Amino acid sequence: MKTNKPVLLSGISPSGNLTIGNYIGALKNWVEMQEKYDCLFIVVDMHAITVRQEPGLLRSRCLSFIAQYLACGIDPEKSTLFVQSHVNAHTELAWILGCYTYMGELNRMTQFKDKSKKHPTNINAGLYVYPLLMAADILLYQTDIVPIGDDQKQHLEITRDIAVRFNNLHGKVFKIPEPCFPKIGARIMSLLEPAHKMDKSDTNSNNYVALLDEPSIITNKIKTAVTDSGTQIKTSETKPGISNLIAIYSVLSGITPKEVENNYIGKNYMTFKKDLAEMIVEKLRPLQNEYKKLMKNKDYIYEILKKGAQEATRRAEETLKKVYEKVGFILPA
Ligand code: TRP
Repeated sequence: MKTNKPVLLSGISPSGNLTIGNYIGALKNWVEMQEKYDCLFIVVDMHAITVRQEPGLLRSRCLSFIAQYLACGIDPEKSTLFVQSHVNAHTELAWILGCYTYMGELNRMTQFKDKSKKHPTNINAGLYVYPLLMAADILLYQTDIVPIGDDQKQHLEITRDIAVRFNNLHGKVFKIPEPCFPKIGARIMSLLEPAHKMDKSDTNSNNYVALLDEPSIITNKIKTAVTDSGTQIKTSETKPGISNLIAIYSVLSGITPKEVENNYIGKNYMTFKKDLAEMIVEKLRPLQNEYKKLMKNKDYIYEILKKGAQEATRRAEETLKKVYEKVGFILPA
């Protein structure tokens, strides 16, 4: 599957339910990028365990994530789709990168600080070195471009810093990756707390619409989503709730926010929310149907994972071998 196209790599941690935020901010764009790029998409299960997970649930969620990637339109013939723990090179490279990273750099990571606050009884070393594993994910594949949300900007910067440092010491081993952020307006916020990003691991599931939510659940969640005082369906900095719902409507239906506003002049929040819920339900229906079909044939999913892991391993090993040579390890005969 190696081509001359630029390499694109991204991943999502199976630490909750995939949401319409993940769809709009990531999956939908990934599907479109498959033509132009040599894509690798990962379910980063090793990152997920930096926060305590229920093992059985993690296992089934991982498989479900892969099926949802496929149902969204990720094509295993075009892209390499795999689970992080299936490719040993990720943790092997992460260790080496750790020896080229200063604690001072890791200490500055805001995600570590945020997650430490959120899980004060489990501030583990894995959480601390999380950025090294992410750097390994990226650098192993000589990645050109990494689609991420702005919350991951700092992790991409440290990846670049480590890669440059290693290259300066040992010669050009790693390609220096560039981040790529989704279009403005594609940052979907929580339904009840629109000041925060929609989060798949939110403890309150009313804060997000999951890709696999039933229609009645979707309708209820949209109904209870906070809107702001006032009555107009209009985007405004002072009205983050309604602005967020307009953004969701706009991206999923493919019309501009302005057109959404124009269509709802003189109409109330209730009417808008009812239409929005119906639109989301219709948009997710084919995806959910495809998902159900896929989950009836798990052997097919395992087959894709096997192929994905083989391809990823082959490519990752090329980089890892160079790294082992450069740092001075004896290569096995
Ligand atoms: N840390 C990313 C997040 O929380 C997930 C991730 C892990 C990732 N490895 C990656 C994203 C490599 C892009 C590339 O969203």
